[in-house]
Amino acid sequence: MRQRKAKNLDRRLRECGAYLITPHAEAETEPERETKLMEVAFPDFSMRRNYLEIGCGRGDFLLQKALADPEGSFLGIEGQETVVLRALEKAVLAGGPEGTGILKNLRFACVFVQSMETVCPPKSLDGIYLNFSDPWPKARHAKRRLTYRGRLLDYADALRPGGFIEIKTDNTGLFDFTLEEIEACGWTPAMISRDLHESGYAAAQTMTEYEKKFRAAGVPVCYVRVEP
Ligand SMILES: C[S@@+](CC[C@H](N)C(=O)[O-])C[C@H]1O[C@@H](n2cnc3c(N)ncnc32)[C@H](O)[C@@H]1O
Repeated sequence: MRQRKAKNLDRRLRECGAYLITPHAEAETEPERETKLMEVAFPDFSMRRNYLEIGCGRGDFLLQKALADPEGSFLGIEGQETVVLRALEKAVLAGGPEGTGILKNLRFACVFVQSMETVCPPKSLDGIYLNFSDPWPKARHAKRRLTYRGRLLDYADALRPGGFIEIKTDNTGLFDFTLEEIEACGWTPAMISRDLHESGYAAAQTMTEYEKKFRAAGVPVCYVRVEP
C-alpha cells in the first residue's frame, strides 16, 4: 500500500545518508553506470556472505539479521521513500546512542526492483528474502508478483551455489501461486510450512513488522525455502 509522504522527507533522508545507497544509473561513465547496487553498498562484497531482502518495508527484519551476523552483508531494497526512511532511521538508532557508530554490514536502497541485473552480479548472493510481498490479487497482474517464475529464475542466477530464497506470507492465494511457480522452475522446496510458528523452523525466529502483526492477530504465516 502506498504510504503518505513523510514530513521533511528529503532532509531526513539526507540525515540517514550513511545507510542509503543510490543507483549509479545516472553516472557519467559507462563502467560507473553498470555498477550494481550491491557493489555500491559493500565494495568488498565479493569476499563476504551477502543477503538481500526485496520489499524490506521498515527494515525490522534486516536490522535484526545484520546485528546478529556482523560477518554477513545485508542489503534491503524498498521502493517507497517514506517507508525506507523508517528503516534508515532505525539503523541510525541501532548504530549508537547518537547514531555515531555506523553498522558496516547494513545498507538500504530505494528502488522498485524489476531485474536483478541492476542489483548484483550473477552468482554473488548467499540468500534472498521475500517477506510479505504485495499479493497483486488480480490474475492479469500475476507477472508483477515478486514470486512470478521469471523473477524466481532471475533471483536464482544471482545466487551462489548453495544459496537460498526464503519466502514468507500471510496470503494463502499468493502462497499457492508461489508453490506453483517454484514447481514450474523445476525446484523442490527444501522447507515448507503453512504455519511457520508451529513448525520449529529457524525462520520463525526473526520476524518482520508484518509478521508480528499477523502473529498478534492469530493469522498463520506461510513459509517456503528453496535452494535452486
Ligand atoms: C507488504 S510490505 C512488507 C514489508 C516487510 N517485508 C514486512 O514483512 O514487514 C511490501 C513492501 O514491498 C515493497 N515493494 C513491492 N514491490 C517492490 C519491488 N519490486 N522492489 C522494492 N520494493 C518493493 C512495497 O513498497 C512494500 O513496502
